Amino acid sequence: MVTKHAYKAKPLPPLIHNAFSPFFHLPPFSPHYYPKIAEFLIPENMKGRFLFLSVLLYSTFHVSFSIIDGLVANGNFELGPKASDLKGTVVVGGSKSIPEWEISGFVEYIKSGQKQGDMLLVVPEGAYAVRLGNEASIKQNIKVLKGMYYSITFMVARTCAQEERINISVTPDWGVIPIQTLYTSSGWDPIAFGFKAESETVEMLIHNPGKEEDPACGPLIDSVALRTLYPPRPTNQNLLKNGGFEEGPYVFPNSSWGVIIPPNIEDDHSPLPGWMVESLKAVRYIDSEHFSVPQATRAVELIAGKESAIAQVARTIPGKTYVLSFSVGDASNSCEGSMIVEAFAGKDTIKVPYESKGKGGFKRAALKFVAVGPRTRIMFLSTFYTMRSDDFSSLCGPVVDDVKLISLRKP
Ligand SMILES: *[C@@H]1O[C@H](CO)[C@@H](O)[C@H](O)[C@H]1NC(C)=O
Ligand SMILES: *[C@@H]1O[C@H](CO)[C@@H](O)[C@H](O)[C@H]1NC(C)=O
Repeated sequence: MVTKHAYKAKPLPPLIHNAFSPFFHLPPFSPHYYPKIAEFLIPENMKGRFLFLSVLLYSTFHVSFSIIDGLVANGNFELGPKASDLKGTVVVGGSKSIPEWEISGFVEYIKSGQKQGDMLLVVPEGAYAVRLGNEASIKQNIKVLKGMYYSITFMVARTCAQEERINISVTPDWGVIPIQTLYTSSGWDPIAFGFKAESETVEMLIHNPGKEEDPACGPLIDSVALRTLYPPRPTNQNLLKNGGFEEGPYVFPNSSWGVIIPPNIEDDHSPLPGWMVESLKAVRYIDSEHFSVPQATRAVELIAGKESAIAQVARTIPGKTYVLSFSVGDASNSCEGSMIVEAFAGKDTIKVPYESKGKGGFKRAALKFVAVGPRTRIMFLSTFYTMRSDDFSSLCGPVVDDVKLISLRKP
């Protein structure tokens, strides 16, 4: 059942067919995807050569064609309005004043170091950002491949309003992201949003639905980036999709804050393919460039205690015995203390204690269970809240990685 599911609907990525299109992209470090293409297309004894060729193609065309993974056009707002289109910080020159973007409503163009009241505005990337006042929005058309999945990562900072929210949409997907909880002590959270491209050009819209008394109270936006996702399929080695979290949103190379995957994420268009974030609070997606990660290059940090959980529904056969195994560790981000990760498989559960010194490390744990239905919900959460010992305003928590679900032949 799983095998059929695994291969049937798998779209052939643009690796070969569109090798010369502007969207040519080969996901680095995606072994679950890479060798499979090779199996489809070439005989066993040619694999080495094929891979070599692909690597060559990749390195040759990466520079000029990889417009997908990274900032969108003027995604960091370094190109600004003409002086005559600005009145103070307010953009007054009309909807096309900021290059590559279309704006609407009360939009401000903010320079790093600018003061607002007694607050100093700092911009995460480059020198400029935008602020969206009441009902203001910015949008941009992006060329994509129809039918492919994408993740947008953007930086957002709350300013003066208490209940700030952002509605980010790529029709027909949208998500309202509450930003009253800030997870990053810099004041800027890198946030991810996933969508499926319904056409070759999509409109990405970032809107502040707020109606504050002060129209200038609204979130700051910077560094809007895009990444193509290759939703992995379950295999007979792992009934879970993306158990190692290797597929996920774009991580800014210069940001050591990971990426916030906001709550209320369903699995169909998740920026973390295969996984849902159904809880009240977000989880953090971390990379091995900036954090300690138990396996390969990516993992998830459960940063908000019981309010933050990731889940996936696996296909199971009632009466069969399964083993859910996973790594629990810490991200080497000064998140110290006694931690507990609770893992669930349907009604079965295990609590895995982990003593963190905040310097990296992990252990394996496993939960054996008998499936009671054709679908079993796998879920992870952290029992406690934890704060970084070097930064008491930053939530942190245990890391979960390398999640495997296998069925035992003999129960
Ligand atoms: C968010 O924006 C989309 C696109 O404009 C819209 O269809 C949707 O209704 C909005 N959602 C909310 C809750 O405002
Ligand atoms: C990252 O940081 C380096 C060195 O500080 C800088 O040269 C580079 O432009 C930065 N890249 C981005 C995308 O911010």
